[in-house]
Amino acid sequence: MSVAGVRALGPLLAASMWACAAVDPPPQAPGGATTVGLRPAPSLMRPAANLPAERRPDFHAGQALARQPWVKAPTATDARDGLGPVYNARACLQCHVNGGRGPMPAGDGPLPFTAVVRLSRPDGQPDATYGAQLQTRSVALRHQLDGALTPVDADPPPEARVEVQWATRDFTYPDGRRVTLRAPRLAVDALGYGPLQADTRASLRTAPPLHGMGLLALVPQAALEALADPDDGDGDGVSGRLSAVPDVEAGGQAPGRFGWKASQPTVRQQVAAALVEDMGIANPIFPRQPCTDRQPRCRAAPHGGGEDGLEISAPLLALLVEFANNLAVPARRKAKDARVRAGQALFAEVGCAACHHPRFVTGPSATDPHLAGQVIWPYTDLLLHDLGPGLADGAPDHGATGAEWRTPPLWALGLGRAVNGSRALLHDGRARTVEAAILWHGGEAQGARDRFTALSETSRKHLIMFVKSL
Ligand code: HEC
Ligand code: HEC
Repeated sequence: MSVAGVRALGPLLAASMWACAAVDPPPQAPGGATTVGLRPAPSLMRPAANLPAERRPDFHAGQALARQPWVKAPTATDARDGLGPVYNARACLQCHVNGGRGPMPAGDGPLPFTAVVRLSRPDGQPDATYGAQLQTRSVALRHQLDGALTPVDADPPPEARVEVQWATRDFTYPDGRRVTLRAPRLAVDALGYGPLQADTRASLRTAPPLHGMGLLALVPQAALEALADPDDGDGDGVSGRLSAVPDVEAGGQAPGRFGWKASQPTVRQQVAAALVEDMGIANPIFPRQPCTDRQPRCRAAPHGGGEDGLEISAPLLALLVEFANNLAVPARRKAKDARVRAGQALFAEVGCAACHHPRFVTGPSATDPHLAGQVIWPYTDLLLHDLGPGLADGAPDHGATGAEWRTPPLWALGLGRAVNGSRALLHDGRARTVEAAILWHGGEAQGARDRFTALSETSRKHLIMFVKSL
């Protein structure tokens, strides 16, 4: 074979390497012994199948806490007050609807409850006035009996009003088929506390689904490091690096695993960050309200805490963590369908598995032995990848640059519509189909995307069927 011929084989050889890595067919149980069934209806709200009976009451108490709306302080119902003073939504499950991803409206309109706008500056620091997230609601909006929202003068206003506007463009396959893609533009106005810093960048983020978090937390760091290739030493165009973020309780840095930019190291810290940033609930890990020193009206508002200023106690935080840690991954669908099997081979061949890594074995755990030692199929490497300018938000976040995203898990992705009607894929919910999500891939994923677009329409359908079967 000529030298040119050998070179041309390069990508194919790389592809078959991934094919080997994925030779073991994914089983019906992507979450190992934690996997739950699909009857009576697919759900992302069930506890891990092997969660010990004595822990189930706490899981369900956590679920109730995640569902119940927080209210403005002060009230007689002490345990549930402390909302805001600025916030995005009143309850975890208002955003993570039925445990699934947040829906995104079809047309232009106000930022939905289910999404947030993160803020950062080129050096990764938060905006000096508004912090790391825009809270688009506040306790100043009192819900009247007639449903109208009436501002109450003494209370601090929301930080801003945000409109999401969609711009569309067409993509045409080599075989002539056309797909319309959309991307959001944010219009931020009615700023309640003065201007944003001139170089502050805004990043729209939808609420991701919550199943399998406890399993992802137990993927051994060494297994992730083995997949990382920060300098692309093997020259396949895919690098991938582990983010390093502050672990607030343990001190020092830890690998980021959670959030679209892997900005949180543990489920517990992620939940605490959600409490303070999304709902304005001061908690044992993040004891300050989501107001900066430049927001005196926000700082001065009454809070719902006791003498320690905390609006949720350590035991109630622990219940929320028990809930978020143990949400089960449902069984696969159609795993034996010949088209799905064909799609599985294509997924490996075109190089999707270079980032959407199929399989891990979870490490040991003193607190969650039922989640330990499980063979899981999440289809993520939990690493940061540069996915190119099409998806870049220009907003660095903890360890991640303005072009990097953490590979999201693909397990149960096909159940989105069944659990809450949401079809909003990617970090800002722009993709309404798996196909659109793939077409947005660029940067390190450009090669995989191009190999996908070069497939026949039938092969593309099979690959997508496989993704939806996970
Ligand atoms: C205002 C909507 C909203 C509320 C309320 C909210 N979240 Fe989230 N949640 C999000 C968004 C958006 C993200 C992604 C954040 C990012 O990556 O920047 C997220 C991320 C997460 C993640 C990480 C998921 C992953 O795949 O890494 C977990 C776990 C989580 N939230 C749990 C909770 C819990 C528990 C609560 C209640 C205490 C809660 N959230 C409240 C919107 C919300
Ligand atoms: C270089 C790494 C990389 C490769 C290769 C790659 N992906 Fe991704 N994928 C990502 C990252 C990172 C995201 C998140 C991007 C974002 O949200 O902006 C993502 C997002 C997705 C999503 C949306 C998930 C969600 O929860 O919204 C799907 C579906 C997906 N990829 C499928 C594929 C398929 C199919 C292939 C092969 C054609 C592929 N990916 C190749 C890294 C990769």
